[in-house]
Amino acid sequence: MMLLRKMCRTSHAINIYRTYSVNGGKQAPPKILITGGLGQLGVECAKYLRGKYGRENVILSDIIKPMPDVVKDGPYIFADILDFKGLQKIVVNHRVDWLIHFSALLSAIGEQNVPLAVRVNIEGMHNVIELAKQYKLRIFVPSTIGAFGPDSPRNPTPNITVQRPRTIYGVSKVHAELIGEYYFYKFGLDFRCLRFPGVISSDPPGGGTTDYAIAIFHDLIRKGNYECYLKPDTRLPMMHVRDALRALSEFLETPNELLNRRVYNVTSMSFTPEELSDKIAKYVPDLKITYRPDSRQDIADSWPQVFDDSEARRDWNWKPEVNLDNLVALMMKEVKEKIAANGL
Ligand code: SER
Repeated sequence: MMLLRKMCRTSHAINIYRTYSVNGGKQAPPKILITGGLGQLGVECAKYLRGKYGRENVILSDIIKPMPDVVKDGPYIFADILDFKGLQKIVVNHRVDWLIHFSALLSAIGEQNVPLAVRVNIEGMHNVIELAKQYKLRIFVPSTIGAFGPDSPRNPTPNITVQRPRTIYGVSKVHAELIGEYYFYKFGLDFRCLRFPGVISSDPPGGGTTDYAIAIFHDLIRKGNYECYLKPDTRLPMMHVRDALRALSEFLETPNELLNRRVYNVTSMSFTPEELSDKIAKYVPDLKITYRPDSRQDIADSWPQVFDDSEARRDWNWKPEVNLDNLVALMMKEVKEKIAANGL
């Protein structure tokens, strides 16, 4: 596997990956379009999937002009999820099979601009789901712990329970889950959705409530201190990006017959800011953390503390690999590298 991944970075990648193996058989790799490609998950997701299916088979898209290293990695195109005709053109011209729909405003940023969140998260979803139906695409849409609310059981939060979120982000994600399921039952659309916990990666944070667990690494490595906007004992479910992308990829490859649901909880661990900083202290001994809770505390207090992903484990063998110790070790290394490379 390692060898194949390395080979993928060479110019022979296209030939090597013309076929790939599913359950021992050979079939052509899917052509994949990723929307919202310059958000937290897009670039890493494209790298991961290009390693599996070939460089040219994974097209990253967004409305933002990309940095040169993004374009160097593989195909990148303009795609506006609010422009239905434009999306049709891309699906036809690039012969897209799978759509990974990442475009969304996250929880904290969504509260600052509700009309924009409605457009991007809800109208955008209407466009891509209809597109997927018309062209018979397999479509993946991430949901979130934010799809739950104060009436939901928080420890643990099962796959099926009361949701009723109180952020526009959460409301839009419940909408995405429900409309996706509806299209599956009504039209047979191959809709797949994972509810992710806070995803932790070395890229700088992007307007989420769980993003303190990213910002803390950046600030502690650069300055040795961090002001946290959540209270020290705020427990939230979390996952390193490596586990998130593996979950996404394994879930996308699972045969339909094994799926009892279209929407699954997945998680790796749960921790508080205090527990996280205790672990980081092994690497940054003189760190200083202060706590100044703001409106994001109310959001966190309405979310799951421990996420029950037993259905994903049962149906498609989901199993997290990165625990808290590994996550801290990985992040210390990856954030340092990022700061050195980009001065972020
Ligand atoms: N990371 C997201 C947020 O905090 C949760 O899905 O908004």
